[in-house]
Amino acid sequence: MVPLNAVPLSPFPLDQWYVAGLSWELKDKPLARTLLNREVVLFRTGSGEVAALEDRCCHKSLPLSCGTVERAGVRCGYHGLLYAPGGACIEVPGQDRIPSKARVKAYTLVEKDSILWIWMPREEGAVPTHEAPDYWVHGDSRYQFKGDVYHYDAPYQLIHDNLLDLSHLGYVHLRTIGGNAAVHMNAELKVEGSGDKVRVLRYMPNSAPPPTYLAAWPFKGNIDRWQEVEFNVSHLLIWTGGADVSTEDLSDPQRGGFHMRGFHAITPETETTAHYMWTMASNHHPDRPDVLEAVYEQTALTFHEDKEVIEAQYENMKRFPGAPQIDIHVDVGPNRARRIVERLVKQQVQEGA
Ligand code: FES
Ligand SMILES: [Fe+2]
Repeated sequence: MVPLNAVPLSPFPLDQWYVAGLSWELKDKPLARTLLNREVVLFRTGSGEVAALEDRCCHKSLPLSCGTVERAGVRCGYHGLLYAPGGACIEVPGQDRIPSKARVKAYTLVEKDSILWIWMPREEGAVPTHEAPDYWVHGDSRYQFKGDVYHYDAPYQLIHDNLLDLSHLGYVHLRTIGGNAAVHMNAELKVEGSGDKVRVLRYMPNSAPPPTYLAAWPFKGNIDRWQEVEFNVSHLLIWTGGADVSTEDLSDPQRGGFHMRGFHAITPETETTAHYMWTMASNHHPDRPDVLEAVYEQTALTFHEDKEVIEAQYENMKRFPGAPQIDIHVDVGPNRARRIVERLVKQQVQEGA
């Protein structure tokens, strides 16, 4: 792993789409958020356009997030300069002439599938080299979803580690999606990937359904259970679920049964803190039409359990600085993702980004 303090420029992979927030967070007020050490204000204009600007008025430096949102943009809360979504000042109250330097840095922000994607370029002002990711699940009528944003007092890669190693379900999440620890630890694990992606696949045939599954779906007994994790540099997609034993082909992407599809965006705030923005989508059985709320509540509880563990882990890492760690069999996926991030960061440091 790249020692986080040893990287002089950006310790984060750049030229990437990161998640800045979830659509419903932008209502009638500007939102301040630190993303990859950059102070950003996010807002939705009165006409519905979303925007991300540097959170500093170019007049006397008040955060623009202290201002108000109007139809045309965001207005500074000190002397009223009005900024358009592109960052240009378009009004100086009481003065006809707008100084040519009256503008703030703008980021490319795209709203897609209820997700706000921000382009974090290597070079200031550079345009995206590719389109923001699609997340089809949010638009699929078979699924309903809800989500939340958690703040973590821990470096972002500790969250990657956690999500790429679902063996922890058997120990951390006994009350919800966990179940038998031995089944998790002994389940066959397949790790594959190419480019900047890693996939971790785990199947647990003929195993007992965990509490959340039982509450959500009328299983007849044991289930064939799957966990498929896809790591991307800024977000992970995790498809878990189960079906009555021997009723579904676990290699079929269209298989039936109970599905939980998690969207997990991990956006570094600083080297040592992160934003965890997630949604959980699930389908429902015709006999249980109202499962979403229960699935959501149990997911939120589950993710709080992760937060407690990861923050405690990081606190202890600080108490034992530089203490060696060992690897075990469950670390193959997390280590592969760490190598990707390390390669990208090293590359941009070498290239002077
Ligand atoms: S500080 Fe923003 S208008 Fe003066
Ligand atoms: Fe977890």
